[in-house]
Amino acid sequence: MNIPNTPLQLGLFMPNCSNMAAISTYRIVPDEWDYESNKKIALAAEAAGFDFLFPVSRWRGFGGPTDYLGTSLETMTWASALLAVTSRIRVYSTVHVPAFHPLIVAKMGASLDHIGQGRWGINLVSGWSKEEFGMMGIELLPHIERYQRTRAFIEVLKGLWTQPPGTFNYDSPWYKINNGYSLPQPVQQPHPPIVNAGISDDAKAIIAEHCDWAFISLLSIEAARLTVADIKARGQARERHIQCAGFPFVLWRDSAEEAQAEVAKIIAYKDPIASNNWLRGLNLESGSFDRFTLDQMILGAGAFPIVGTAEDVALQLQALHHAGLDGVLMVFQAYYQDTLRFQREVMPILRELGVIGA
Ligand SMILES: Cc1cc2nc3c(=O)[nH]c(=O)nc-3n(C[C@H](O)[C@H](O)[C@H](O)COP(=O)(O)O)c2cc1C
Repeated sequence: MNIPNTPLQLGLFMPNCSNMAAISTYRIVPDEWDYESNKKIALAAEAAGFDFLFPVSRWRGFGGPTDYLGTSLETMTWASALLAVTSRIRVYSTVHVPAFHPLIVAKMGASLDHIGQGRWGINLVSGWSKEEFGMMGIELLPHIERYQRTRAFIEVLKGLWTQPPGTFNYDSPWYKINNGYSLPQPVQQPHPPIVNAGISDDAKAIIAEHCDWAFISLLSIEAARLTVADIKARGQARERHIQCAGFPFVLWRDSAEEAQAEVAKIIAYKDPIASNNWLRGLNLESGSFDRFTLDQMILGAGAFPIVGTAEDVALQLQALHHAGLDGVLMVFQAYYQDTLRFQREVMPILRELGVIGA
């Protein structure tokens, strides 16, 4: 077994976008995408002892009655506000490589790391939605070129964050940096954690070379074990330690039957238009979600379902930890109340199992 010798890091895949919990019209609380809800959830997660908060970056919705993810708080500005009101929890931003210049992101990222006093991290995504990029007049490059560009983007970020100001030069088909200067440099040395959230071969190659974390989609615990082992081995071949996190949809009730019935309801009320649009875009353009079925996309848009009693949930999270995952970013049905319930009902069991620290 490949169990990390560190506790499982608990994260929330935050609802900075509308309908984050599921591509469904069934809900038990009003949508929590707005800033006041995000702030309340962030403060509750910090008080409960969660380790990190992670957003989704989207530029338009996916149609249908939900217009899935159509209303969203941009993730640099979102992180800035949450870092200012919290004091311990880590906050990430997600940046679409083709939509930003890396020098601007280096500056924004360093600013965020100063605002959070060393608690910010970045998820760099290559992008896959033709509709989003088409809206901006940006061409979606072939998959391999997309990732070559992402590699160049990360190299520029690292150069600007670590080289003496005015000395960093870079030449590539995408970015040319002449005597690059960006002050302040980040608080975290050598730089804030860099995440990539793809598991295609192109993505894995970049993760091995340049990233600190891989956030991965999971179809099963066994698949997680294999993917994590592969990513970590690729890192080790370069003498780099890479941590992996997965994203489960976590729902629990007093009995497993009640929990399953609730999930069945969410799926029964699925938004067929938005979920088809979502799956079609990902199927066509990604190497990470191409084996998912439509129903697997409803809960958290492809999150791994962990459903049952509080104890079942804790045991499944332990199984993911034992499969090699260093962290989880959880999707909840009702974020604020589930964060409080998770603290009360699931965390004590996780502690007892030794999955999280005392
Ligand atoms: C945990 C997680 C978070 C992701 N967040 C975003 C996001 O915010 N925006 C986005 O466009 N893609 C996001 N993605 C998609 C990936 O970046 C990637 O494009 C997708 O998984 C396809 O994989 P591939 O690029 O390796 O083919 C996310 C994926 C995962 C697993």
